[in-house]
Parts: sequence; structure tokens; C-alpha cells
Amino acid sequence: MLKLENVIKVYTANENNVDALQEISLQVPSRIFLAIQGQSGSGKSTLLNILGCLDRPTSGTYTVDGADTGKLSDDGLASLRNQRFGFIFQSFNLLPRFNALENVMLPFLYSPSPPENPRAVAQQMLEKVGLGNRMHHLPGELSGGQQQRVAVARALVNKPGVILADEPTGALDSKSSREIVDLLAELNAEGKTVIIITHEADIASQCPYVLTLSDGRITDLKSPKNAKVSQKVVASL
Ligand SMILES: Nc1ncnc2c1ncn2[C@@H]1O[C@H](COP(=O)(O)OP(=O)(O)OP(=O)(O)O)[C@@H](O)[C@H]1O
Ligand SMILES: [Mg+2]
Repeated sequence: MLKLENVIKVYTANENNVDALQEISLQVPSRIFLAIQGQSGSGKSTLLNILGCLDRPTSGTYTVDGADTGKLSDDGLASLRNQRFGFIFQSFNLLPRFNALENVMLPFLYSPSPPENPRAVAQQMLEKVGLGNRMHHLPGELSGGQQQRVAVARALVNKPGVILADEPTGALDSKSSREIVDLLAELNAEGKTVIIITHEADIASQCPYVLTLSDGRITDLKSPKNAKVSQKVVASL
């Protein structure tokens, strides 16, 4: 369970304050598939970065499975992030001089308890995303959709419970977009929590839960009618 209470995020740039998030309260139970939509600048990435422990709220609390992240040191927050969250970005963020397999193995460099055979685990993840025959290709030798699948494999290697995707299909054609969303839905069906930022209405329409942000506030939450209370996303609008 991810739980934000009265979270405010203020950025200070050139002595100007930007109220990126204003009093966000939100509960996301495990195994949820949630889309976040909203106009450019509405605070989507800011919210996702806080959920993924890439950043901290200015005020308010954020707890991950009951652990108050505000009480963690920066190192403690980083280790929570590495254990619990996998990230996917619009621009793939692969290292261009490393091949697909090496890119997928990167998270093990920062892991306190890497598996005995990191290469085998990375291979397994690449096979899972359908790239068993592209392991030794450099990112520049792969299509956009294939590069994003490498990024999905990389997000999975540390076996995180939560996948956070910031416009993962923003740079892809419609067929590759569909494949990535199908892959995320499959991961959700296997038990992962998936939170995806998207501008595309047809992607949001495939997600059971859709949160809308506007000027740093939650202005709408769509939920499936038949969801059990224990499985529900809860937000204060
Ligand atoms: N590091 C930063 N310093 C100062 N202001 C920032 C910073 N990051 C974001 N902002 C501001 O905070 C607000 C929310 O930004 P955020 O990136 O969360 O929006 P977004 O909804 O993800 O937008 P987009 O759809 O364009 O990606 C914006 O007004 C933005 O200009
Ligand atoms: Mg953004």
C-alpha cells in the first residue's frame, strides 16, 4: 500500500515558488493498475517521482507499506526505492554503449544483494519481454518499441512490487505503444502494482483506475464499479 497524506510539493526556481502538488491525499493498494492523466505541468511526474522515492514531499507524509519515508535517511530512501520500485521513462534512458543484456544488468551494480547469476536473471527478463534474440544489440540497433522493452526488463530485474512508468509510450508508434501497454497489463495480472502516466485517452481507457490531476490537485478518480473496498484506490478530491 502506497499512502500519501496532505502532500505538498513546492519547487523553488530563481527565487520563484511553483506549487507543483497541493494537498494530495491518495491510497494505492497493491496489485492496482492506475493511470494518471492531466495537462502538461499539472504535476504528474512530480507525483510519480514522490511515489517512487526519487523525490520527497515538501510537507505531508508518504508511507510505503506502513514505513514513513520521511523518517528515512537519503540512503534508506534509496534502498527502499531500489527494492520496491521499477521505473520506465518516455525516453527509455538506456546507456547507448551497453548492449541490451548489459543495460538490464545495470541495477545489480547498485543492489546490496544481487542474484548469484545476474546474467541469467537479465537474460530471463529479456526473454520475458520478447527480446531473447536481441540481447547483444546496442540500443541504437533496436527499434523504439524494442528499446522500451529493454527498459521494462531492466525495471523488473530487482523484482519490484511496483512499476512506475512516466509516459512510456510517448515516443512510440501506436503498434509499439499497444505492445508496451499489453506488457504492463500482463505484469499487473501477475501481481505487480502498475502506475502509468499517459496523455493518451485510449490507454487510460484500458486502465481500471484513472486519476486526473489539474494544477497540482486531484480533480477526478475513475474506479471500476465492482472493486472490493480493500482493493480500491482512494483519493481526496
Ligand atoms: N525541478 C523543478 N524545478 C522547478 N519547477 C519544477 C521542477 N520540476 C517541475 N517543475 C514545475 O512543477 C510543475 C509540475 O511539473 P511536472 O513535471 O510534475 O508536470 P507534468 O504534469 O509531468 O507535465 P508534463 O505532462 O509536461 O510532463 C510545473 O509547473 C513545472 O514547471
Ligand atoms: Mg511529466
